[in-house]
Amino acid sequence: MGVSRRQVLTGLAALGVLGIGAGGARYWLGRPRHVTTHDYELIAAPLDVELVPGFTTTAWAYGGQVPGVELRCRQGERLRVRFMNRLPEPTTIHWHGLRIPLEMDGVPYLSQLPVLPGEHFDYDFLCPDAGTFWYHPHTASGEQLGRGLVGPVIVEEREPSGFRHERTLSIKHWHVDPQGAFTAFSVPREAARGGTPGILSTVNGSHNPTLELPAGQVVRLRLLNLDNTHNYRLALPGAEVRIYALDGNPIPPRPLGKDYWLGPGMRIDLAIRVPSAGTELPVRNGPLRLATLKSVASSEAPGDWPPALPANPIAEPDLARAETLRFNFEWAGALSTNAEQGGPFTFWQINGQAWNISDNSCMERPIATLKRNGHYIFELRNVSQYQHPVHLHGMTFKVLSSDRKRIEPYFTDTYLLGKNETARVALVADNPGTWMFHCHVIDHMETGLMAAIEVV
Ligand code: C2O
Ligand code: CU
Ligand code: CU
Repeated sequence: MGVSRRQVLTGLAALGVLGIGAGGARYWLGRPRHVTTHDYELIAAPLDVELVPGFTTTAWAYGGQVPGVELRCRQGERLRVRFMNRLPEPTTIHWHGLRIPLEMDGVPYLSQLPVLPGEHFDYDFLCPDAGTFWYHPHTASGEQLGRGLVGPVIVEEREPSGFRHERTLSIKHWHVDPQGAFTAFSVPREAARGGTPGILSTVNGSHNPTLELPAGQVVRLRLLNLDNTHNYRLALPGAEVRIYALDGNPIPPRPLGKDYWLGPGMRIDLAIRVPSAGTELPVRNGPLRLATLKSVASSEAPGDWPPALPANPIAEPDLARAETLRFNFEWAGALSTNAEQGGPFTFWQINGQAWNISDNSCMERPIATLKRNGHYIFELRNVSQYQHPVHLHGMTFKVLSSDRKRIEPYFTDTYLLGKNETARVALVADNPGTWMFHCHVIDHMETGLMAAIEVV
């Protein structure tokens, strides 16, 4: 299916980079000195990390850290990443939320062939939108994301945004036991329910870290849910916090309020007015603490709330002429037919069709065909007792309404569809190709809750 073989075998030995457990491994992530645009060389390789104090976990890392190294680029410029696979298995990189051509979207056998161990692949695309995005494999996702292959991509606004300070908080739970050994990334009885949760919470790879912020300043906090399973109920009690963007897309700033549900794959950009030096504020998931923000003395003049961030250039769907398509997200547990035939379990389906994660021909049977530049309303109906962060590749959609809550319409790439909720979202089908449409609870995605939507 239109795969161009851009991979080239690299002379790994010559580079002298060691993988597994090598304390002295040289990971190189850099920008060549004489290039004016951003340019990265990104290596995925095993890496020993200390998630549980006193114990070693052999994670899989991008750029020698978990979560992966933060990639940055400016809106309207190209992000060029030479990706090198030093893992023991094939992988790809998907750029979650970035509106880029299909050949760069990282879906194996659809966008590209998997990058085999020892190979490299050049990702090269224009970043049309500013905001907080992320990257991850689209192969063996439960295990590859579970082992740590997740990382932030920050696309800076064309002009300075008015924020003088910012911090990225990559949130992830790990499937490890008290000795740091990996536990199952997916167990069938959990996959058929809310997904298999990891037990160790981390922010930027540490359990309950303390992050220092400059007192008196307004700091942009980019929070990313890079977890396989958990829906975080984010709260910053006691802090003066405003929301500036959801899933990379600006909204008119408004107070965070009591909490905000951040499903797997989702992001939120907050601004916090940092209180006087020495104050500690929790970042919480419901009643549980994920991190502590600690204000430290700053010599800078106090900052003020920056204006709203500039909107991204996303086509506005015309609801008057939009065609409505309905998508039901359902439990299909009783059907589990693939498993009976020795294939993967099937617990979930969209409009009566379960995606078989080990059958690539599923991509040839799109669940919907959209006309290029056509206007569409998707009615998303959750006929189950679990939340589903519904994500679409390639295009950003506008959330219009829900039968469960009041919606201020906003653009996003992932909508957290609550239990038995029906929501309406709209888009202009302006990116040709076949695009994955799936729940971002990885367990759900790998047991049926994925489909392809074609734009021709
Ligand atoms: Cu984060 Cu198929 O995507
Ligand atoms: Cu995506
Ligand atoms: Cu789901």
